[in-house]
Parts: sequence; C-alpha cells; structure tokens
Amino acid sequence: MDSRTNRLLQRDDTQFGGRPDEASNLKPIGWLKSLETGNVKIDSEHRALVAQCDALSRFVTDLPPQGFGIAVAELKSAMASHFVSEAKVLLSTGFERVHARRREHKKILAQMEELLVKAERAKNMAEHTEIVRAIRNLLIETMIRHDLDFKSHLEFVAEYPLVAARGRRRNQA
Ligand SMILES: [Fe+2]
Repeated sequence: MDSRTNRLLQRDDTQFGGRPDEASNLKPIGWLKSLETGNVKIDSEHRALVAQCDALSRFVTDLPPQGFGIAVAELKSAMASHFVSEAKVLLSTGFERVHARRREHKKILAQMEELLVKAERAKNMAEHTEIVRAIRNLLIETMIRHDLDFKSHLEFVAEYPLVAARGRRRNQA
C-alpha cells in the first residue's frame, strides 16, 4: 500500500465528510474530488460503490446475519460490473497496462469472494465490522493506487491523441 493510500485510510471522519457509525465505529469513505478520474461513467460507478460501501457500514447494526451476506454479495456484484466497464474504457482508450489491471481486478474479486464467505458465516457485529473495514480498505486502495493511474492515462490521451491511437492498435493486435 503506498503512502497516499495510507494517508487516506488514516484521515479522520470530518475529512471524509462523514462521522463514524456510532455502534460499529466504522468511518464512511464519503467522496473526494481527488478521487475523480475524469471519465463520467467510471466516476459515477465509483461514487455508487462508495455509497454502497458506506451503506454497508450502517447495515452492520441493522441487518440480520443473512441480510448482511446479501448486502456484501450485492456490493461484490456491483464491483464485478464496474470492472467490466472499466476494462472496456481502458481498452477503448489504449491503456497500455490494461492486462495488469485486469489481473488486479481478478485478485480484488477473489478477495471479495473470501470476504463474502466470511460475511455469510459471520455471527456478530464485531465480525461484520471487521469485514466491512476490509471491504472499505480494498475499495479505497483500488481507487487510489490503481484508478488514479488511469486518470493520468486519460489526461495523456487528451494531450497526445496520436500516441494514444498507436497504443490502441497495439492492444488490438
Ligand atoms: Fe475503478
């Protein structure tokens, strides 16, 4: 985990624009302008994932055990759909590290699957809290460490369209 991700994970609640859930003490992620990649579709999906993850923090106290598992499954499914969208955007804009990014997506979904199995077996609020914290950290890490790399790529495509077109041809080969 790089230092930027660490700093974000350690920010206090007022900086996230939220407050800890009183029962579980989980910090909401909220939304930061600096998380935006500049791609409307990707940003809207990121916002929805963050909102879904923050909602999960509140479910820790409110949902029965089976409801918690369903909520985690829905978030995993939303992440999987987002990764498909993101890969399409990366391919269509000639992102040269698209294959590495896809491997990373696969790894994240495998981690989410493990957390889902734990969520379906979890019996108390402490276990739920631990799972939500892990999901929250996974989501922040992927948006900061990997997706901001994508932001630089979009800026590059806008500034150097011919070089970007060459990258697209290479990815299609
Ligand atoms: Fe993403």
